[in-house]
Amino acid sequence: MKSQRGHSRSSCQEQGIGVKGEEGRAQKLLWVNIDNQQKLATQNLSAGNKVYDERLVSIGGIEYRVWDPFRSKLAAAITKGLETMPIEEGSSVLYLGASTGTTVSHISDIIGKSGIVYGVEVSARVAREFIENVAEKRSNIIPMVADARKPESYGVILSKVDVVYADIAQPDQTQITIQNCHAHLKKGGYLLMVVKSRSIDVTKEPREVFLEETKKLQDAAFTIRQVLKLEPFDKDHAIILAYLPA
Ligand SMILES: C[S@@+](CC[C@H](N)C(=O)[O-])C[C@H]1O[C@@H](n2cnc3c(N)ncnc32)[C@H](O)[C@@H]1O
Repeated sequence: MKSQRGHSRSSCQEQGIGVKGEEGRAQKLLWVNIDNQQKLATQNLSAGNKVYDERLVSIGGIEYRVWDPFRSKLAAAITKGLETMPIEEGSSVLYLGASTGTTVSHISDIIGKSGIVYGVEVSARVAREFIENVAEKRSNIIPMVADARKPESYGVILSKVDVVYADIAQPDQTQITIQNCHAHLKKGGYLLMVVKSRSIDVTKEPREVFLEETKKLQDAAFTIRQVLKLEPFDKDHAIILAYLPA
């Protein structure tokens, strides 16, 4: 995995936890060795606070949250070999389908105080948990109780974002995601879209669904970088990494 600034997965492993990155700061996203296993972790922006039942580890006085690929599809994608990690320190991210904030919280860790993540969630009940447990403890999250089918309703987004992350598990999710990207993603910006094949068409083979959704993105002017299946972490799921050419 390469980040936009060129950090590779192997360099994270070599540098290890607590070692300063290129710019003299501890890395926000890295691999740590715990009990002889490589685990993904993010630097905790809200020290002392957990979001789910993730493990906290402290090394060199810095607290990290272990990022479980069975609980977060973005962690699964990175673990499975995502080619490029477009979300990095300082990124602005529009996140569709925030749910209770498990993945949003790790994105919040990665982008740090100089970044911003807008988390859209349509269910008021779920959004309440997201707001109380996650967004209120992190200054870089703007929660929005809104329907992703109405991207024009997000008045709070003043300038276009670097990355759109979509995980809404709806039959017409690709069309919704494309509308959101056209409204809010900057040219040259990246899209990460989770595809749960059973949410789109239970009668089709997952591979066929992934191909069809990829084609819809290509027809909407996206360049596809990677289609990555998320098994064994998530059955019949893939993540599509694409960008809007500048
Ligand atoms: C699969 S869950 C997302 C899990 C989350 N991304 C994570 O990794 O922690 C899908 C979420 O999308 C939300 N959702 C579905 N349709 C939506 C819509 N039209 N607008 C906003 N959110 C929507 C659901 O309420 C649900 O919380």
